[in-house]
Amino acid sequence: MRRFLIDTDTASDDATAIVMALRHPEIHVEALTVVGGNVGLDQAVQNALYTVELCGENTPVYAGRATPVMRTLETAQNIHGEDGMGDCGLPLHSRVPAEGRAVDVIVDTILGSPGEITLVCLGPLSNVAAAVLRAPEIVDAVQRVVVMGGTGVHGPGNVSAMAEFNFWADPEAAHVVTSSGMPLEFVGWDISIASAVVDAERHAAMKALDTEFSRFAVSIAQAVRRFCLANGLEGDDLPDPIAMAYAIDPAPAETQRLHVNVMFGDGGHRGVMEVDRLGFIGGEPNVEIVTHYPGERFFELFLNALA
Ligand code: RIB
Ligand code: CA
Repeated sequence: MRRFLIDTDTASDDATAIVMALRHPEIHVEALTVVGGNVGLDQAVQNALYTVELCGENTPVYAGRATPVMRTLETAQNIHGEDGMGDCGLPLHSRVPAEGRAVDVIVDTILGSPGEITLVCLGPLSNVAAAVLRAPEIVDAVQRVVVMGGTGVHGPGNVSAMAEFNFWADPEAAHVVTSSGMPLEFVGWDISIASAVVDAERHAAMKALDTEFSRFAVSIAQAVRRFCLANGLEGDDLPDPIAMAYAIDPAPAETQRLHVNVMFGDGGHRGVMEVDRLGFIGGEPNVEIVTHYPGERFFELFLNALA
């Protein structure tokens, strides 16, 4: 079994990515650590707890940072809905997270099993940056760090022309993690819009499964789907699920190892990825950037998880 630790700001696409990991026969999910992002921390914790319960698992869920490391939280509820799960009426309240703090769990899980843990980051990197600053030794102890974040080699952004939400929401944390020396693999929003858009045919295939998981995935994505269709996309895209697909099966991916710097502070450069495309200007390559992931393989993994 491969051992995953998932850090998440649990909204609709996070939730279906979590279902993919929890229901995959070769993956053991050690824990979910939760961070404020798409929605506030408390709601993200409830959404994570509901998703674990839906899958019939007892995976522990730990609350983490409610805010970015150096700024206030700006959520994406305008996209995902007030509750982050499509406002479709799910009972997303009153569940109790595990005792303990997410940052401690990230440090202890990685140091407790050197070389064995894949950390999958699906939200702003506030918890992960705090863990790196608290215990730099996790940099060499973690096996893989797969991050849904950034804009790949060529963009575009989704929260500004050049910045993707997870890096924009907490750019200081993204800078700390990107320059930490961890074994980083980035799956940017460019990959999601290229290979993970739920067009009408794929939406019909999801509905045709008619299982509790497929009905869940369709329902919670309805707010994002309305937003995307109203803005010229052929359907809702699934950034966290395609990052999870890459974490589960990296083989079909094309990647480039380049030097990446994430800019921080305020202004148009906030959360923007500087990528040394020429390979000799920006310094030592520090990130494996996914440049292609086949949509067919993604939807095979995604639909299998919902069957
Ligand atoms: O930009 C997409 C990312 O921001 C995804 O992780 C989505 O869940 C939001 O957190
Ligand atoms: Ca997310």
